[in-house]
Amino acid sequence: MASAVTTKKLLDMKKKGEKITVLTAYDHPFAQMADEAGVNVLLVGDSLGMAVQGEATTLGVTMDEMIYHTRIVAKGARTAMVVGDMPFMSYQSARSEALINAGRFLKEAGASGVKLEGGALVADTIAAMTQAGIPVMAHIGLTPQSVHQMGGFRVQRDRERLMEDARRVESAGAFSVVLEGIPADISAAITKSISIPTIGIGAGPDCDGQVLVIHDMLGLNGGHVPKFVKQYAQLRQNAMDGLRAYVEEVASGAFPSEEHCY
Ligand code: KIV
Repeated sequence: MASAVTTKKLLDMKKKGEKITVLTAYDHPFAQMADEAGVNVLLVGDSLGMAVQGEATTLGVTMDEMIYHTRIVAKGARTAMVVGDMPFMSYQSARSEALINAGRFLKEAGASGVKLEGGALVADTIAAMTQAGIPVMAHIGLTPQSVHQMGGFRVQRDRERLMEDARRVESAGAFSVVLEGIPADISAAITKSISIPTIGIGAGPDCDGQVLVIHDMLGLNGGHVPKFVKQYAQLRQNAMDGLRAYVEEVASGAFPSEEHCY
């Protein structure tokens, strides 16, 4: 079933000044919940590597893993647009390979668009995908697939370069652009200067929309919480309470009780 949120709808939302909500999702139950809550775009991010697979970076995530997770997310989306994230080295080495991989998200996984990282340097790739009928969400600023080149996950502050990247992905035909780890004043200037929606993460309040990693904002994983994340729930704590109670009750014989028996 086609989703109710389309690239045109997102553009209209920008024009009307309505904020766009984007959230990552990696599986069916959370996709269903986010969709039901009214999230506009479900991004099956390659943050899968860090949020779900326990890796330190996103670099090891494969195309087949992304297709699998995108497919199970798409099944849970009734209204939200589903965007699949192109993993490291699935679009950088050859144009034809990039097109084939981007096409897989639409043909095999039920996504309505793809995301890829990079600005001016990937503009030609974005143009080729767009010409092939594949909507592209660009991603500039802190681009996690370049973590080693950037010398870590660092806020990006080169105003001229960021403005140029935003303009180039817009001209290439991207339907929106993620601004990650960018000072709020630069994001605000980019948002004003381009016609496509900007979706911020650690990029201040003036973007056209916001995106967060669902595990971060629901408090699902322990450990360091980055400054740009607001936690709207503490699911890890709730889950730990339930898991400890289960262990105790099985050990003590309190579970199963009569009500759970046939
Ligand atoms: O991989 C991802 O989840 C992302 C978003 C955080 C923008 O790129």
